[in-house]
Amino acid sequence: MTPRENFGSRATVIMAMAGSAIGLGNIWRFPFIVGEYGGAAFIMVYIVCCFLLSMPILLSETIIGRRTHQGTFGAMNTLAPGSAWKWLGLLTIFSPLIILSYYSVVGGWSFAYLCKAISFQFKPENAESVTSMFGAFSSSTWAPLACMVIFLGLTALIVYLGVNKGIEKFSKISIPVLFVLIVIIAVYSITLPGAGEGVKYLIKPDFSKLTPGAYASALGQSFFSLSLGVGTMLTYASYVNKNENIIASAGGTAFFDLLFAILAGFAVMPAVFAAGITPSSGPGLVFETLPFIFAKMGAGGQIISVTVSILFFLTILVAALSSSISMMEVGVAYLVEEKKVSRHKATISLFLITLVVGILCSLSFGTLSDIKLFGLTIFNFCDRLASNFLMTVGALLFSVFVGWKMDKAAVKDELTNGGTLKSSSKLFPFVYFLIKYVAPVTIAVIFILGFIG
Ligand code: TRP
Repeated sequence: MTPRENFGSRATVIMAMAGSAIGLGNIWRFPFIVGEYGGAAFIMVYIVCCFLLSMPILLSETIIGRRTHQGTFGAMNTLAPGSAWKWLGLLTIFSPLIILSYYSVVGGWSFAYLCKAISFQFKPENAESVTSMFGAFSSSTWAPLACMVIFLGLTALIVYLGVNKGIEKFSKISIPVLFVLIVIIAVYSITLPGAGEGVKYLIKPDFSKLTPGAYASALGQSFFSLSLGVGTMLTYASYVNKNENIIASAGGTAFFDLLFAILAGFAVMPAVFAAGITPSSGPGLVFETLPFIFAKMGAGGQIISVTVSILFFLTILVAALSSSISMMEVGVAYLVEEKKVSRHKATISLFLITLVVGILCSLSFGTLSDIKLFGLTIFNFCDRLASNFLMTVGALLFSVFVGWKMDKAAVKDELTNGGTLKSSSKLFPFVYFLIKYVAPVTIAVIFILGFIG
């Protein structure tokens, strides 16, 4: 048997994990949720959530993955053989595939919009029609499907190339490139006339908008953004060396993810204000509002605006790809390790399964829009099921597993590399307290409150 692949160094571990974390969640979801809940005040809640609740979950997954050097199912079987915990292992094979199915639809849209930007479709003379272009495009049948197939195909190709030649290589290039791109776009956005209001919005807190819903949204968003609760990070951590400092890698991942989200806020919000649009215009922000802005600004300098629009959709596409590969890898690791299927066959099978669900999600914007599950379209149902249920339950169970089922000594051994890491040893009591009590209790409370209303 060929030896299991490992990530090469601390930097590659962080790049790969940050690659999974940084994605549509940061660019497509974060800015509009910030818009909905009043800017800077929400960002503060979000930061606290990230470090007190999401970090312990990220560490829990990392501990399980690195301890066993196995994917979700194998890891659960090794640490708790013959117990009901195997269901968590199984659940986390399906959840990332559900996310990948609808994520690929949006990934496909990004590809389509990159093509539109390259072919100069956001022009000042059709600025008004640019907004309606999105509805027409997403509800059509073939174009979004074709783009989704391309997106899923690219995902499968990278995963097929393997952990080192595919995932690691792609993340090592894409993450630095993404940071450069988002900074360029943010600078452009901040220097637009009238952008000052947008900057103020992101910096000056408005606490009146911090409703109970804001807290639940902050938690959900930070789980989604850090790819938690569905075994993605667990699987990536299974490729981490025994001598790696996992508190440092997890901290680095959370830091870069947060930084990118905030930069994305500065890339999107000032432009939105500059165009005189209300910030809470929902998910359409990226595919309706921004193309409109690019088109309008084109009047002042066509070349710059076209370039920025190309860079923007390229950023979204690359960020989405570095995340989608992590979702597919979970299932691939399972099939390769547990079912002894070749990587080649595993990738193709998962490509086909996701494609079928993805097609249904894509068509639910048009042809299948009348089909409702619990009152939601197929796309929205998958999103809700994953974000509000599967991820939260998974996250809760991972922290309960590490805090209550695993031996404390084993957890300490994993976090401190057998006591050799001095700073991690000092942090251990605090980190363990977060994993054992703070995270599970708070997540359970927010989860139950979310259900009640
Ligand atoms: N974190 C990614 C983003 O922000 C999406 C993602 C990748 C994800 N893997 C995941 C979300 C697993 C939930 C679960 O776009």
